[in-house]
Amino acid sequence: MLRIDAKRLWNSLMELAKIGATDKGGVRRITLTEVDRQGRDQFVRWCKEAGMTVEVDGIGNIFARRAGAEDLPPVAMGSHLDSQPSGGKFDGAYGVMVGLEIVRTLNDAGIRTRAPIEVAAWTNEEGSRFVPTMMGSGVYAGVYGLDYALGQNDVDGISVRDALQKIGYAGGAAPHSLGAYFEAHIEQGPVLEQTKTTIGVVLGALGQRWFDVAIAGQDSHAGPTPMETRKDALLAASRLVVEVNRIATTFPDYARGTVGFMQVKPNSRNVVPGEVRMTVDFRNAKDATLTAMVEELKRSAQKVSAECRVGIDLKEVVYFPPSEFAPDLIAGVREGAQALGYSHRDIVSGAAHDAVYMARIAPTAMVFVPCEGGISHNEIENARPEDITAGCDVLLQAVLRRAGIVESTQTAA
Ligand code: GLV
Ligand code: MN
Ligand code: MN
Repeated sequence: MLRIDAKRLWNSLMELAKIGATDKGGVRRITLTEVDRQGRDQFVRWCKEAGMTVEVDGIGNIFARRAGAEDLPPVAMGSHLDSQPSGGKFDGAYGVMVGLEIVRTLNDAGIRTRAPIEVAAWTNEEGSRFVPTMMGSGVYAGVYGLDYALGQNDVDGISVRDALQKIGYAGGAAPHSLGAYFEAHIEQGPVLEQTKTTIGVVLGALGQRWFDVAIAGQDSHAGPTPMETRKDALLAASRLVVEVNRIATTFPDYARGTVGFMQVKPNSRNVVPGEVRMTVDFRNAKDATLTAMVEELKRSAQKVSAECRVGIDLKEVVYFPPSEFAPDLIAGVREGAQALGYSHRDIVSGAAHDAVYMARIAPTAMVFVPCEGGISHNEIENARPEDITAGCDVLLQAVLRRAGIVESTQTAA
């Protein structure tokens, strides 16, 4: 059975991780920054060395293509090269490097596939600097208009349009249809490691609803202002944080709730804070329960608003329902794991992935591999080389099954 070059894959991941490397062994490659450009340039260089043709579209998604024997929609793989501000070496990078390694392996084995093979690096998957999250794949799938996405600003008022132009990745490639989409990713949770399973066969992903919350109170003096008349925006925000946690811990169906960002104004020790901006990230396996969580948050916000004498504005910035991947591609991943003798289990993704939006326009599946302690979105994120290899080998099998082999100079799958 054809195998990837484990060492080459690992070395490419480690080489890429040098771009934006942090002291604690992680990566800070925030989307559309100079460091992101360097990561993109490295990927493009490697793709060209592997004989692929490279295109960039209007939102900066990169598509590298290896020709097939027939003029068919490509079998695509991919993920993202951007990271969280204090991210790890594997989140996103793994899926892109897996695609590249599979192409290199096909080159070495002299395999001609029926359908072209494509490797995609999607823009701003993380959604940390710019919302919406999964912006590149979202635009590609028609979830967001290009102008809408280009017009989004970061907290400093810099637009996606300007940031993209500055790093030289505002391209003009027209969208094309995809025959299938596969994404390999570290699990980012504890299930595979705890159950000593090598391969997660991903059935779909939790739905998400994200909010920008603006709380308007009134700045006032910390001494003379009586407690009963204050309009303390931070007190209201704190109570909302507790409500988000209460909702996520009391609702069923894998409910999750996070406040990960807060900005306090004027942020001075002897001023009652008059303004807070914060975020809410809700997730659930069932759309109806996700909606019920949001209704509960709105009720909580009304109560906190009245009791703290502040205005609370909830603006929804991301919504996608729970997604399901394509049964025949899922079966291909499962059979790949079986054929290679890897332990495997079905799993639902708590994280969002570009695959969620690809599933709307093409048959889609994902492969998960374990990560140490289930920790991700953290500089200490880590994965074992043997698991990294296993996920790529499984995907190679699933991709070949989908793309078809026309000829080979070596005994293949
Ligand atoms: C993507 O990283 C997410 O927030 O799930
Ligand atoms: Mn990711
Ligand atoms: Mn991530």
